[in-house]
Amino acid sequence: MEIIHSIKELQQKLDRNERAGRTVGLVPTMGFLHEGHLALAKQAKKQNDTVVMSIFVNPAQFGPEEDFESYPRDIDRDAKLAESAGVDYLFIPSVEEMYPTDGGIRILPGAQATALCGASRPGHFDGVLKVVLKLFNIVDPDRSYFGMKDAQQLAIIETFVRDFNLRTNIVRVPTVREEDGLAKSSRNVNLSETERQEAPAIRQALELGAELFAEGKPAGEIEEKVAAYITGNSTGRIDYVSLLSYPELTEYDPSSEEAILACAVHFEKTRLIDNIILK
Ligand code: PAF
Repeated sequence: MEIIHSIKELQQKLDRNERAGRTVGLVPTMGFLHEGHLALAKQAKKQNDTVVMSIFVNPAQFGPEEDFESYPRDIDRDAKLAESAGVDYLFIPSVEEMYPTDGGIRILPGAQATALCGASRPGHFDGVLKVVLKLFNIVDPDRSYFGMKDAQQLAIIETFVRDFNLRTNIVRVPTVREEDGLAKSSRNVNLSETERQEAPAIRQALELGAELFAEGKPAGEIEEKVAAYITGNSTGRIDYVSLLSYPELTEYDPSSEEAILACAVHFEKTRLIDNIILK
């Protein structure tokens, strides 16, 4: 595995003329890798000749009061894990390398970004689309891998790729969980011991919601009961619990093929998200 910090160097390595038909899979991450990221890399390895993983804690997607500074980082550990998962090029640019200039041009997602995390993190998905477009242009991947834990991010990126004819195929990868059901997340290390014990209540609540959905209960009642389960079984504070059509992220319409029951919960220093797709 090669570690690359320069955009120009990576572009030279991945030049279409040099590739001679070899396929490239991109796994964008913010580092502090866990099994969820490694599942993305392993899937990319199965489907492509070359795997590029990026590690970049992207300041553009953090709000001023958010955890950009305290976001966990450990590049040495990440490099070993990435290599073990079959990554060929580990791209670790600095902020100056990624954002040397700012001409003020903004990429604004549409209505999908007004729901869920978009409502409580204004500008977050603008920053995600900005970095993702840069990564697509730098790597020119045949396939790009995103986890279902960030289901809203995935839905918005799929729309971006479709509407702007971006030349990559988006691959959805299922959420990887701890044994007790907690979704793997780099932020889990910031939970206190007690919070870590309580956090599986999120998954249990979503499963309860899935049962109520299967029984045909209305969206409002499901959202209420899921929120009550989380607050009754943890010290977490609800940011949102929402049942929406997926991937549109509009008010749940029973005629839509899939729905998402998603939630975000604040613990003292950590905000966790999770979701379940309902068919
Ligand atoms: O999901 C993430 O870790 C980030 O939002 C991403 C896609 C790497 C963009 O910074």
